[in-house]
Amino acid sequence: MAKVGIFFGSDTGNTRRVAKSIAKKLGDAADAPVDVKKASVDDVLKYDSLILGTPTLGDGELPGLDAGASDESWAEFLPKLKGKDFSGKTVALFGLGDQEGYGHEFVDALIFLYDLVIENGGKVVGFWPTDGYTFEKSNATVDDQFVGLVIDHENQSEQTDERLDTWLEQIKPALGV
Ligand SMILES: Cc1cc2nc3c(=O)[nH]c(=O)nc-3n(C[C@H](O)[C@H](O)[C@H](O)COP(=O)(O)O)c2cc1C
Repeated sequence: MAKVGIFFGSDTGNTRRVAKSIAKKLGDAADAPVDVKKASVDDVLKYDSLILGTPTLGDGELPGLDAGASDESWAEFLPKLKGKDFSGKTVALFGLGDQEGYGHEFVDALIFLYDLVIENGGKVVGFWPTDGYTFEKSNATVDDQFVGLVIDHENQSEQTDERLDTWLEQIKPALGV
């Protein structure tokens, strides 16, 4: 069985910890999560099933140097994936954000991953309801749903594990797991 590739960006470690938790829950079905600051384009393209995760930093931005992160991350890596053929690839997305501190741009950066996959001809699975979150505005919705799983470590960390379990059961068939 082909494995699921998990790639993430993270500044303070929350997204990395969620990526590791996802990998643990998927067991043998997934390879170890890779920080995009250490990834090559070919590392990503070798998978047909992918899980991509990002926090939102700065002003609704992807993590990276411009958003004040301590190192390069998605902001530097995503442009390298632009125009690559994602046809036949199934991708699930997860995003971390803070609905109380940044309720006017809640998990905004997730939409940049979504747009890239769609523009490259890939399929995005694992949309997630906005119920259960309180925020004013988010760019990360399509048809009134988040384009991926949303985790709020600051305000709802007690729900993270259950959210992950529910979401993984939802996406496993599409990822071929
Ligand atoms: C400087 C800064 C800016 C942030 N901007 C946003 C934002 O625009 N929207 C949002 O939902 N969360 C925002 N957050 C919250 C982070 O997404 C959240 O803390 C996340 O868990 C960080 O993940 P990481 O530890 O993987 O870097 C911001 C956090 C910081 C420190």
